[in-house]
Amino acid sequence: MTTVETTLTGPPPEPDRDPVPAAQPPVRDWPACDLDGTAFDPVLAGFMREGPLTRIRLPHGEGWAWLATRYEDVRLITNDPRFGRAEVTRRQVTRMAPNFAPRPGSLAWADQPDHNRLRKAVAGAFTVSAAKRLRPRAQAVLDELVDGVLADGPPADLVERVLEPFPLTVVSEVMGVPAADRERVHAWTRQIISTSGGPEAAGRAKTGLYGWITATVRARAHSTDEDVYALLGRAVLRGEIAEEEAVGLAGPLQIGGEAVTHNCGQMLYLMLTRPELMERMRTRPAARGPVLDELLRHIPHRSSVGLARIAREDVEVAGRLIAAGEPVYVSYLAANRDPAVFPDPDRIDPDRDPNPHLAFGNGPHYCTGAVLARLQTELLVDTLLDRLPGLRLAVPPTEVRWRQKTMIRGPRTLPVTW
Ligand code: HEM
Repeated sequence: MTTVETTLTGPPPEPDRDPVPAAQPPVRDWPACDLDGTAFDPVLAGFMREGPLTRIRLPHGEGWAWLATRYEDVRLITNDPRFGRAEVTRRQVTRMAPNFAPRPGSLAWADQPDHNRLRKAVAGAFTVSAAKRLRPRAQAVLDELVDGVLADGPPADLVERVLEPFPLTVVSEVMGVPAADRERVHAWTRQIISTSGGPEAAGRAKTGLYGWITATVRARAHSTDEDVYALLGRAVLRGEIAEEEAVGLAGPLQIGGEAVTHNCGQMLYLMLTRPELMERMRTRPAARGPVLDELLRHIPHRSSVGLARIAREDVEVAGRLIAAGEPVYVSYLAANRDPAVFPDPDRIDPDRDPNPHLAFGNGPHYCTGAVLARLQTELLVDTLLDRLPGLRLAVPPTEVRWRQKTMIRGPRTLPVTW
C-alpha cells in the first residue's frame, strides 16, 4: 500500500531526467481549493512542472491515481481502449465529489460497445445540422432576454438575466420539454446544480426530475419528432436501450446547459476586463470565431479534474508504467497549456493558429453538447456585443464574486452597465 509522502506546499522538485525513472513519483494531495477569477490552479501548475505523470490524492474516495498533464499523453489516454471508465463505477477511486452514484445509461461511465449504442440513441439531436435548425429559435430566445435587460435599463446581472436562463431554455428546446413543464423542469435542474440548499434539496430535485423523465420517455415512444425525448422514447420501444438507460442518458444532457452558463461567464469576464480583446471583437466581428476558440483554450473551465479511467492492462505512458487496475486522471486544462503545442501558453493570443485545444475533451467521451455549446457561445457574444455597444462591468473586477465549492468555475454574478 502506498502512503501519502508529501503535501504540495512549495515548488516541486526538478523533473526526473531519467528516460525510464525507477522510483514512483510521490503521492501529492490535491485539496479542493476555491479559486477566484480565471486564475490557473497553482497546484495543477506545480504538478505540470513536476513531470508529465504525477500521482495525486483527491479529497474523497480511496488511494491515489495517476495524473497526466501533457497534451500528447492526454490525447493518448483518452483515445485508447486500454483505459476504461466502467470499472471506476465498481471502485472507490480517489475523486473530487463526496457522493458517487453513477446511473445506468450514463454516457460518461460507459465503455464500448455500450457507449456507442447509447450515444447513437441521442446523436441526431446534437449534430451540426440540428444546431443550424435550432439557430433561429435560439436567437429569438436570446433576443427576448436581451429585450428585457434593455427595457429595465442598467445595471443588470448578466448571469441572472441571460447566462442562466438562455442555456436552460435552449436545452429544453433540444430535449423537447413541453412548454407546460418547463417551469418545473427548470426549477429541478437549478436546484440540482445549485450549491445552496444542501444534498437533501438536491436529492429531492433529482427524484422529481428523474421521475418526470421516465414518464416523458414513455409518453414520447410514438412521437415522430426529432427532439431527445422522442429519440429516446423510440429507441426504448425498438429495444435498443433500456428505459433506465434512457433516463440515465437524459439526466446529464438536461443539466448540461450549466456548463455554458459558467464557461460563458468566464469568457465575458475575460472580455470585459481586457480592453484590447474587447476592441478587437468589436472592430472585427467576422474574425470572432478564432478568438472564441482561444478563450475556450484559456478558460479554466473546471476545478481540479473530472472523471477517472482505469488501465485494463499495463500501458507505458511518458516513460512510466501504468499497471493494469491503476486509476488515471487526465487534465484537459493542463493539456491546453502545454508549451510543446501552444507556444507562450498562458498568454491569450487571438491570432493563435493552429489551436487544437481540448476544451471539449477528446476521444469517444468528447463532449456530446460541443456543437450546441459553440452555437450558444457564438450567439451570446455576438448578441451582447452588437446590441449593447457600451457593455462594461458595473463594478471593479475585484468585486466580481465567484462560485465556491464547485466543480465548474464561473462568476456568481456579472454586474454590467452599458
Ligand atoms: C463531456 C466540456 C457543454 C454534455 C464533456 C467533457 C468535457 C466537456 C471536457 C469530458 C470529456 C471526457 O470525459 O473525457 C464542456 C464545455 C461546455 C460543455 C467546456 C460548454 C462550454 C455541454 C452541453 C451539454 C454537454 C451544453 C449538453 C447539452 C456533455 C455530456 C458529456 C460531456 C453528456 C459526456 C460525454 C461522454 O462521456 O460520452 N464536456 N461541455 N456539455 N458533456 Fe460537455
